[in-house]
Amino acid sequence: IERTFSILKPDATERNLTGAVNAVIEKAGLRIIAQRRIRMTRDQAETFYAVHKARPFFGELVDFMISGPVVVQVLEGEGAIAKYREVMGATDPAKAADGTIRKLYARSVGENSVHGSDAPETAAQEIAQFFSGNDIAG
Ligand code: GTP
Ligand code: MG
Repeated sequence: IERTFSILKPDATERNLTGAVNAVIEKAGLRIIAQRRIRMTRDQAETFYAVHKARPFFGELVDFMISGPVVVQVLEGEGAIAKYREVMGATDPAKAADGTIRKLYARSVGENSVHGSDAPETAAQEIAQFFSGNDIAG
């Protein structure tokens, strides 16, 4: 059974969408086995998105991620990484499939409501950045 890391981004918490997004996650068969609402520090956001450091939107992305509270989560399920990417939909909500979280809720390619890990290595690394073993009840 696989685990993935999820973030409900500031545009989602601002609109009180934690429950609505969680309903889509759970309906897809993913189990929320850890969850915490936090304000990311600039350091945490820069570390988290370090892979995008050279991109022109990096500064904007980090500013957005610290603009309000986020909900960090660990999701568990069969093929959880790919399944959650499917449930999230395309990065740009204009290209996201019907019924996906981003199609339903995202405002733009930047303010796109959710993050999900893209591979087993990044999932493990991202979970470890925000959760210790004791915080996860599978
Ligand atoms: P994540 O799950 O958040 O990693 O999204 P993703 O894997 O679908 O997209 P990617 O890793 O390519 O980009 C990471 C994040 O950077 C996106 O989710 C967006 O929030 C942001 N981003 C990507 N492209 C743009 C852009 O052109 N402009 C802005 N402002 N943000 C962008
Ligand atoms: Mg990504």
